[in-house]
Amino acid sequence: MKSIPLFKVFMPPEVDAAVLETLHSGYLAEGPRVREFAETVGKFLGTQYTIPVSSCTMGLTISYDAAGIRAGDEVITTPLTCVATNTPLLHLGAKIVWADCEAKTGMVDPNSLEKIITKKTKAIVVLHKDGDLARMDQILAIAKAHNLKVIEDAAHTFGAKYKGRNVGTMGDFTCFSLQAIKHITTGDGGIITCTNEDDYRRANALKWFGLDKAAIPAGTSPWDHDISLVGYKANLNDLAATIGLVQMRHADDILARHNRNGNLYSELLAGVPGVELIARDAGNFETYWTYVILAEKRDAIRAALAAEGIASQVIHPRNDTYSIFKTSRRDLPGVDYFSARELSLPCGWWVDEDDIRRIANIIKRSA
Ligand SMILES: Cc1ncc(COP(=O)(O)O)c(C=O)c1O
Repeated sequence: MKSIPLFKVFMPPEVDAAVLETLHSGYLAEGPRVREFAETVGKFLGTQYTIPVSSCTMGLTISYDAAGIRAGDEVITTPLTCVATNTPLLHLGAKIVWADCEAKTGMVDPNSLEKIITKKTKAIVVLHKDGDLARMDQILAIAKAHNLKVIEDAAHTFGAKYKGRNVGTMGDFTCFSLQAIKHITTGDGGIITCTNEDDYRRANALKWFGLDKAAIPAGTSPWDHDISLVGYKANLNDLAATIGLVQMRHADDILARHNRNGNLYSELLAGVPGVELIARDAGNFETYWTYVILAEKRDAIRAALAAEGIASQVIHPRNDTYSIFKTSRRDLPGVDYFSARELSLPCGWWVDEDDIRRIANIIKRSA
């Protein structure tokens, strides 16, 4: 019986030679490979400002800081995510205000926003969950009306498109993850994209001790220039970028396979009693990091899948139940509904059509 993991690291064999070459090139820190990687990713995502960083978590930290979030500011964010989305806000001393999420998508509900925006609100944080897309049209319009920054956590959505628009070209800041089990990996790593130059300059400087390397004249030492921002040490390095550059040659194929698999699940599971599908906008290109279903008999489905060697999981339990966020607790009926039913199924490049038919049949028997 073939077992099917929920995640698998993609590592094409030609990475080996490329990594060896960089390893002995005499340059391992942030250098020519990172610059080439930024250019390659920028072209692929259609983004004007693209900053490779050491992780998505650091990308979010830098984005929040560059967005001007300071102690006491209120930030609206989602509890249905990895804690990586939200702990950087606590580090900055911001007050987390939970948005309710749509019961049928698990993503920030635009209809929940107006009533929680106050004079202290600084930004809205949005997650494109599991490779599906949040409702950006409404969220961007509300943010604009209230002069709020929008930061998108796109850890699960490298290469996704919202109504034809590339993720990374909409909100003020978008953060992608290149961690081991993401669509494209550099081992650990991340990317920040910005939609205006001032944000880019600030984020780029914050990434490396507050110094914007791109603005430092050739032949001068960075340390001889003034530092006016309290920065981080969060650059990507050339070894990681080398892995990323090889991975990028496969990006179209990886994303197409995730997308095709997700669409097949949608076709096979439509109308199955006991299973609800995510409510998706037409015209999106989803990257389905995993394929999420909603089911009241989630535990029975999980057990039936596990009995046949198939992994499934609730990947990120709701954040608002953790002690570190206890002061932000409030009633969130959409989150209650979604988190009681969500289940992630394997959907990546390693899953084929027969696997999905097999998984769908098990679900039909156990839902
Ligand atoms: C939604 C979300 N945001 C952020 C992160 C953090 O990514 P990284 O490990 O690159 O810091 C993750 C990690 O899986 C994630 O799932």
